[in-house]
Amino acid sequence: MDPLLDFGAKSAIITGAGSGFGAALALELAKRGASLVLADINAEGLQVTEAEAKAAGAKVICEVGNVADEAHAKLLVERAQQVFGGIDIAVNNAGIAPAPAAIDQLDAEVLDKQLDVNVKGVAYGLKYQLPAMAAKQGGAVLNVSSMAGLGGAPLVASYAAAKHAVIGLTKTAAFEYARQGVRVNAICPFFTQTPMVMDSEFSTGSVEELDKMLGRSSPMKRIAERDEIVCVMLMMLSPKNTYMNGVAIPVDGGMSAL
Ligand SMILES: NC(=O)c1ccc[n+]([C@@H]2O[C@H](COP(=O)([O-])OP(=O)(O)OC[C@H]3O[C@@H](n4cnc5c(N)ncnc54)[C@H](O)[C@@H]3O)[C@@H](O)[C@H]2O)c1
Repeated sequence: MDPLLDFGAKSAIITGAGSGFGAALALELAKRGASLVLADINAEGLQVTEAEAKAAGAKVICEVGNVADEAHAKLLVERAQQVFGGIDIAVNNAGIAPAPAAIDQLDAEVLDKQLDVNVKGVAYGLKYQLPAMAAKQGGAVLNVSSMAGLGGAPLVASYAAAKHAVIGLTKTAAFEYARQGVRVNAICPFFTQTPMVMDSEFSTGSVEELDKMLGRSSPMKRIAERDEIVCVMLMMLSPKNTYMNGVAIPVDGGMSAL
């Protein structure tokens, strides 16, 4: 296998592995030799990913749980250590989007939920993943932020606040663990064809309509396909990618060139 994409002998934790980016990335890593600790709050979705990853030849452990629960984050690392002898890769991907609402209509419960899942979910992950990787003298963490983490996101202020926080956590962790050989980066996708968008309340399920509605502000005039984001995730986690650290990479069809 091309060493750029050879994940043999690597073990990876992926949260939100029951759907969308997390499920697709799990399969790509499985095909390239990684052993996987897959987690999601949705047991059904997780089972489907587990079956696909095993069919691709991977060793897989699954844990159903909530990323907002610190004990869950600790358990994922402990399971990886018990079964695979440690972790080399962690992808803090689980996340939720709020229903659109103007900032003057911000709901306290929605804001709490955003901070619990999208911020604490990443922070607790880092808390346990980083020392475990340092113990193995290296590793790579990928936090899933968003274009809403890099700029304003009209009608989803709580999501923008949470995704900006993910970048703050990413950069801080990158500084703190660089000398132990751990790289920590964030990916910032534009709207993408995953269930988060396709099944949202403003979607009819038509990609053409979503391209017109959500993609019109992008130079490419369309939203992303799931695998256009997943291939960048693989590149960011590649064992040969050893100097990229502490960055938040937009994958946005050229939005940030404007
Ligand atoms: N799809 C997009 O347009 C887009 C754009 C930018 C960033 N993102 C981010 O990408 C990440 C993955 O989203 P996706 O698009 O694949 O969506 P998705 O809804 O398909 O997948 C998200 C997964 O996270 C899981 N999850 C939700 N809350 C959880 C919790 N509390 N604990 C554990 N698991 C939980 C869900 O069950 C689901 O399986 C999210 O962080 C999202 O904010 C998505």
